Amino acid sequence: MSSENLAIDKTTSTPNNLIHRPRRLRRTATLRRMVRETILTVDDLIYPMFVMEGEGQKVEITSMPGCYRYTLDLLLKEIAEVYQLGIGAIALFPVIPEAKKDDTGSESYNPDGLVQQTVKAIKQAVPEILVITDVALDPFTTHGHDGIVDENGTILNDPTVEVLVKMAVAQAAAGSDMVAPSDMMDGRVGAIRKALDAEGYVDVRILAYSAKYASAYYGPFRDALDSAPRFGDKKTYQMDSANAREAIKEVALDIEEGADIVMVKPALAYLDIIRQVKDYTHLPVAAYNVSGEYAMIKAAAQNGWIDEKRVILETLTSMKRAGADLILTYFAKEVALMLQPKNLFSNI
Ligand code: PBG
Repeated sequence: MSSENLAIDKTTSTPNNLIHRPRRLRRTATLRRMVRETILTVDDLIYPMFVMEGEGQKVEITSMPGCYRYTLDLLLKEIAEVYQLGIGAIALFPVIPEAKKDDTGSESYNPDGLVQQTVKAIKQAVPEILVITDVALDPFTTHGHDGIVDENGTILNDPTVEVLVKMAVAQAAAGSDMVAPSDMMDGRVGAIRKALDAEGYVDVRILAYSAKYASAYYGPFRDALDSAPRFGDKKTYQMDSANAREAIKEVALDIEEGADIVMVKPALAYLDIIRQVKDYTHLPVAAYNVSGEYAMIKAAAQNGWIDEKRVILETLTSMKRAGADLILTYFAKEVALMLQPKNLFSNI
């Protein structure tokens, strides 16, 4: 590695007049580390986790191998472990039993609902970990949409925002550190900010899913929560994947309305959007490495078609290089293990 033979054998090689030889800086592992521009660290990672009712169970999600729906008791153990590994934040998603769903998602703001109970318990068990709660109706509605639906199947914006506000306040009351509206209704960030402030939760942050696309990459997540829309699709509220300028418009509005962090979702097929958003704002930018992106890597790895660890690190590093300050990823725990100091050298 370090025993470089830098002398040129003048008898066989033809000297030429190259001034720049970029390969010089790639010759040794040490040098490559020194000139590396982007370093993925555990501080960049947010771990999305699924909670379900009951006790003593964890159920693997078929389309997301290595990801589980946990009952609260087992979730707390897992969170303690994850925090030990250096992960600073989790994003919580609930699995709501069919019997508790309704047309308007009213279970979402039940003070004793699953999310609220879970947040309280996490904040007691592992107070240091930052808990991010999702603000969207889809896990709570019988029809699986992120909004209230009228008799023609139209998703109603303003009545939905009223429910989202109640949900965000209920989450803040339970101790959520950061609320994350993932619904894509217009004006929800401003309405949530106003309500949080009015209720005294001035320090609860808003992580806005600002540029969230109507993506086929969410399939496995919807399996995990059993939350796929029962009719139609989400294209009247989530963005068209062909649009970039519109992402900046959405980001601009969320910033005006009081977002603390803006997000681009999905990540891998939208690295250009991450970069444009990063160049547009001084706020931290988050990227969501979504369920379908996770599933593709897992499936290929299980078939022995790719080197899983290297592909994971390359993928997440590309998101950071594109401009993401934070990455929500189901790989968070695996990556935290890979990035433990004792394992670092093997990853170079
Ligand atoms: C719900 C929500 C979704 C995801 C996060 N929050 C699904 C959707 O919008 O249909 C997807 C996450 C993933 O695929 O990993 N509003």
